Amino acid sequence: KNIAIIMGGYSSEYKISLKSGNVVYDYLNKEKFNLYRIHIFKNKWVYVDDAGNETPIDRNDFSIPLNNTSITFDCVFNAIHGSPGEDGLMQAYFELLGIKHTSCDFYQAALTFNKRDLLSVLKPYGIKAAPSYYLNLGDEINETEIINKVKLPCFVKANKSGSSFGITKVYKAEELKGAIETAYKEDDEIIIEGFLDGTEVSVGVLKLNGKTTVFPITEIVSENDFFDYQAKYEGKSQEITPARINPEQLEKVTIASKRIYDVLKMTGFSRSEFIFIGNEPFLLEMNTTPGLTTESILPQQAKEAGIELGMLFEYAIT
Ligand code: DAL
Ligand code: MG
Repeated sequence: KNIAIIMGGYSSEYKISLKSGNVVYDYLNKEKFNLYRIHIFKNKWVYVDDAGNETPIDRNDFSIPLNNTSITFDCVFNAIHGSPGEDGLMQAYFELLGIKHTSCDFYQAALTFNKRDLLSVLKPYGIKAAPSYYLNLGDEINETEIINKVKLPCFVKANKSGSSFGITKVYKAEELKGAIETAYKEDDEIIIEGFLDGTEVSVGVLKLNGKTTVFPITEIVSENDFFDYQAKYEGKSQEITPARINPEQLEKVTIASKRIYDVLKMTGFSRSEFIFIGNEPFLLEMNTTPGLTTESILPQQAKEAGIELGMLFEYAIT
C-alpha cells in the first residue's frame, strides 16, 4: 500500500505538524507500507525523499511524477494541524478525488475547527460550555457588554486556530482590546469565554473495530497561567494519565465525549478538552488532527491503553 503522509500546512502550527508527520513516518511499519512524506505549504506541495530532494505533487490527482511513472496513493495520513488539514479543505479535496484519508470528513472537520459553531451545535445535546461572546473582524467592540456576559477573568481566542496561538487570558478591562488584536492575527473571528476554574482534562476518542472508544483520560496541570504554547510544547506542564478525577466525573466526561463523537458522526482520531466545574464537564474545544509527536497527549493515552504508536497509526489507515 502506498501511503502519503501530509504535513506542514498554512497556519502557525506548521512546525508541530512537521514533528507529528515525521513521528508517523518513523513509527509506521515500513515493511507493510510504502511511505511518502509530503510537505503542504502555501507556496509548494512537494514530496520529500530521505535525502531531502523535493518533487512537486501533481495537484490534478495528488500523484508524484517520478522516473517516467507516477505514484498514486491508497490512503493519505493527515498530520496537518490547523488549515488546510484540520478545517476540511484537504478532506474535501481528497474526497473529490476519491482518495481515502485518515481524518473525519470535510464537514466534520470544518465544523469542529470552528469553536463557536461546534459549541452551538452541541448545546442542544446537553454539552455544556463557558459563557461566550463572539466577534467578527470589523465588529464594534463593546467592552462593557463583553465583560457583563463572560465576566473577568476571561480568555480571548481566535475562533479557528490551535496550539493556543492567539490566546490571551484577560484579567482587567484595559487588557481586552490588546488581546482582541492578538487573536485577530490568527483569525478574523474571535471567541471570548469566561474563565472556568477547575481541573482540565483531555479526552481522546476513536473508532476501534467499529466501536466508539475513549482512551484513558489525561489531566493537564499547567505551570503557566493556563495551558498555553509554552506549557504544551516546552515542558511547562504536567500531563497525568489516567487523570485524577472522581468516578462521577469520569463517567460524565466519558459519556459526553462519546456523545459528541457519535452525534457529529465522527471518524478517525479526535481529542477534546474539558474543564470540570464540580462534577460537570464543560467543553472547550475539539481537535480532529491531534498532535502525534511522542510527547503529545493522544500518543501518551494510547501507550497507557497498551497500544504502541505504530499500531495506533496503523488503525488510522486500515
Ligand atoms: N492542535 C494541537 C496539535 C493538538 O491538538 O494537539
Ligand atoms: Mg486545539
